[in-house]
Amino acid sequence: MSREWDGAAYQQVARPHAGWAATVLDRLELAGDEVVLDAGCGSGKVTEQLLARLPQGRVIGVDGSALMLEEARRRLHAHLDRVSFVHADLAQPLPVGPVDAVASSATFHWIADHGALFANLAAVLHPGGHLSAQCGGVGNVSEVQRALDSLGIEVPNPWHFATPEEAEADLAGAGFVDIEAWLTRDVVTIPPTELETYLATVMLGAHLERLPESDRPELIRSVAERVPGGHIDYVRLNLVARRP
Ligand SMILES: C[S@@+](CC[C@H](N)C(=O)[O-])C[C@H]1O[C@@H](n2cnc3c(N)ncnc32)[C@H](O)[C@@H]1O
Repeated sequence: MSREWDGAAYQQVARPHAGWAATVLDRLELAGDEVVLDAGCGSGKVTEQLLARLPQGRVIGVDGSALMLEEARRRLHAHLDRVSFVHADLAQPLPVGPVDAVASSATFHWIADHGALFANLAAVLHPGGHLSAQCGGVGNVSEVQRALDSLGIEVPNPWHFATPEEAEADLAGAGFVDIEAWLTRDVVTIPPTELETYLATVMLGAHLERLPESDRPELIRSVAERVPGGHIDYVRLNLVARRP
């Protein structure tokens, strides 16, 4: 199972993620009565937008963090007749029924084996069903990566920022067709008062958990100092594909 996240803090500071979720959903043609899987639903930012687009449909949110799912359930408690949450690892075969479409935002780059991930998603998609996703792509958050490198942080890299070509090959290997994969750039500015919390909660969790607790505040401060103006250069890998 993947690691835990602080769902409540994430929901507060992960502001760019709502805009990215809207982009992902704009690429899914929905009649409004489908069942859609939100792969890596986190605190429910994509889930919430999906529910608004599926007045007669349902959403299944899958995530590997129990605390993220707790936050999503708390926020979306009024819709629990139309949304269910499943604690599962997207890198393993998924314990959910067939779905009409898959949406995912800001999640795939946390998973090392994209071949297994896409095969697991294909296995739960109805024939003809579409996938629309966005995650970090090659070159993503390079100033943060440079900061970690310059600080000599020697933890295994938790991010898999694929190229469009790698993603196309992995999607095709999992049996998807009509594949499109491309990069977009989005420079976001995190207010100085939130930068350390943002880095710790949204970006550096996997690095921090490998360090002794006493070393963590210094790492967060040092990375924040190396992100001038709180400008973070996000490179997003956009994916659309269809199961034949
Ligand atoms: C940055 S959050 C994105 C959450 C949400 N999609 C959004 O856009 O706000 C990444 C999420 O991916 C989940 N995740 C990462 N690896 C996972 C895995 N192998 N299986 C299931 N969930 C995973 C994390 O638990 C986390 O909730």
